[in-house]
Amino acid sequence: MNEVYEKLMKCREAVEKKVTFKPELALILGSGLGDFCDTMDVKETLPYSEIPGFPTSTVAGHKGQFVFGYSGGVPIVAMQGRVHYYEGYSVQDVVLPTRLMHLMGAKTLFLTNAAGGINPSFKAGDFMLICDHITLSVPSPLIGANIEELGTRFPDMSEVYSRRLRTIIENSAAAESVPLQRGVYIQTTGPNYETPAEIRAYGRLGADAVGMSTAVEAIAARHCGMEICGISCISNLAAGISSNPLSHKEVQETADRVAPLFKKLVKRAISDIAKG
Ligand code: HPA
Repeated sequence: MNEVYEKLMKCREAVEKKVTFKPELALILGSGLGDFCDTMDVKETLPYSEIPGFPTSTVAGHKGQFVFGYSGGVPIVAMQGRVHYYEGYSVQDVVLPTRLMHLMGAKTLFLTNAAGGINPSFKAGDFMLICDHITLSVPSPLIGANIEELGTRFPDMSEVYSRRLRTIIENSAAAESVPLQRGVYIQTTGPNYETPAEIRAYGRLGADAVGMSTAVEAIAARHCGMEICGISCISNLAAGISSNPLSHKEVQETADRVAPLFKKLVKRAISDIAKG
């Protein structure tokens, strides 16, 4: 059996031994959103450290556990803490949790992250509905022998972020009076922030926001047939757009400041998605 698939199956077995909850939607929580789970009716939790072979996050501010429960009556699994490529994991390991949540039964993937704003009309603290993505420096998580059990060798990526879910989320934001930008997310490897020249280049390529996660998770989820949506919290203006040097502290402070509004939007969106 393919090594990547074998590891995934072992993780699945470990989860099935410890958790009975069956989620319909998987939510990956980005910086500042970790306490989204306080708004959930939590039924079970599973620390990543209890899953043999599971990549565990090393970033400050990222907890490491799956939280199972209901958000507005919808059965979900939330990832409190994700792993990033820059931590040194292979990109296949980075997407293992996404694939695992698919195997737990989640049909929808809701991605969130903190990102730097490239689009000059964005302000720190804005939210951006992800309409599409660009990956340049990050390898595809599908490189290597194809896992036929998950999906096809050459999956289509012409609508990674479901148009149907985007419409629902736009309506959720309007109903909650939360302003929502929309745009294209570009994933870099990190961990260094970008140079102003890189940001100018990414802007010309069509990117509106930049971050160090999300796109590879979306690729893996699309491969295995999940329906995907994502929202970025614009935690800072990208390098050169703002005259200030960038810092993880600023990213976290902004994400924390707007977290109550972000939680409100995500909660409403999840319940609207479940209604269809
Ligand atoms: N660049 C890359 N990743 C990020 C940024 C940024 O400016 N802000 C938050 N994550």
